[in-house]
Amino acid sequence: MKKRTLVTHPPKVEVPADNRPLVAPIYQSVKFTFDSVDESLAFFKGDRPGFYYSREDNPTLRQLELTLAAMQGRDACLLTGSGVSALSMPMFALLQAGDHVVYFAEMYSPTRMLVGRLLQRFGVNSTMLSIDDLDALERTLAATPTRLVVFESPTNPVLKVADIERLTAIARRHGALTMLDNTLAGLHNHGQYEVDLFAHSLTKYASGHGDVMGGAVIGRAELIDAMRHDVNAILGPTLDPHAAYLIQRGLKTYYVRRDAQCRNALAVAEQLARHRRVERVRYPGLEHDAGAALARTQMQDFGTIVTIDVAGGIAAGTRFAEALELFAISASLGSTESLVVPPALQQPRGLTDEQRRWSGIGSGTVRLSIGLEDVDDLLADLDQALAAARQG
Ligand SMILES: Cc1ncc(COP(=O)(O)O)c(C=O)c1O
Repeated sequence: MKKRTLVTHPPKVEVPADNRPLVAPIYQSVKFTFDSVDESLAFFKGDRPGFYYSREDNPTLRQLELTLAAMQGRDACLLTGSGVSALSMPMFALLQAGDHVVYFAEMYSPTRMLVGRLLQRFGVNSTMLSIDDLDALERTLAATPTRLVVFESPTNPVLKVADIERLTAIARRHGALTMLDNTLAGLHNHGQYEVDLFAHSLTKYASGHGDVMGGAVIGRAELIDAMRHDVNAILGPTLDPHAAYLIQRGLKTYYVRRDAQCRNALAVAEQLARHRRVERVRYPGLEHDAGAALARTQMQDFGTIVTIDVAGGIAAGTRFAEALELFAISASLGSTESLVVPPALQQPRGLTDEQRRWSGIGSGTVRLSIGLEDVDDLLADLDQALAAARQG
């Protein structure tokens, strides 16, 4: 064999069947081969197991799908290249022109744009409500046949807690599917409710280290399998095997990270709730939070996001964010490092005055994503930044 041939067909290294790697290898291969046409055809007919093309299936992706489905308490999962595609793919796979979708003013803004703007171009109608007003949901679904209700709990960024049991019961009664963007709550929460589909940004808590993007749609096999071919073979928002490996690796510390970050978040929320320069703290783990009672019955913990309204509006909120030393001004959440989104970077666009009120975002609203730093350092940093905000 000439060397040009050798480098394109490198020597095979066989690992004995009884000598397995403890950490699963990354199947960083787009293609998988069979020894014959007959075996390939048998695979396509579903008469034998195997893999063919990584946009549709890959062992590294399969392992992550199985892990995530089990964590969320369902039997199937579909991976995507980002959290946003985990939200959009089910919509493109399940909806058609003439369908109606209900969504909420409190949601992550790209989700609002997806439903309110992009889907509209494909003839899908929608109604935006407030997650606080499930009577309006009942009335809307009674008046308009609806295919899908998409919601969050807690909502991003103001952490309103949805009454999931009531919301899903209303949707079921009117024949609508439900999809919960469960990113903020995490894979260990809400599996006990009859939610049809869970969407997750794996970019956040699953990977945990802010160095990889991914998304997952999780649900019962019948519903996921109805979408799998359209999503993987036709729409194609594939997660790369290396990204899947990093997410699988991140999951090993998921529960310990989450526990430690939630503990830090509670301490931060409690300190900020006592501070004069903070007009309002939203954290469902605080006794007086509007969502506290629901969160206590629905969730195993209260999350790692604390959202505050800084006295003095946008100017003071900006000074506060810029004065923080341990919190980076940055998008996203769920990393090991603490992050801050200042008011100017999260003002909602395209909402009516009423919808803006529902959104709960004020001129001084700041979202804090609490990391794994020592809590004393975080508390001291928040204190000095609030003092700096006052002095401006
Ligand atoms: C609630 C929520 N859903 C979805 C997403 C989108 O995830 P990704 O950035 O992985 O596309 C985010 C990202 O911030 C989010 O906060």
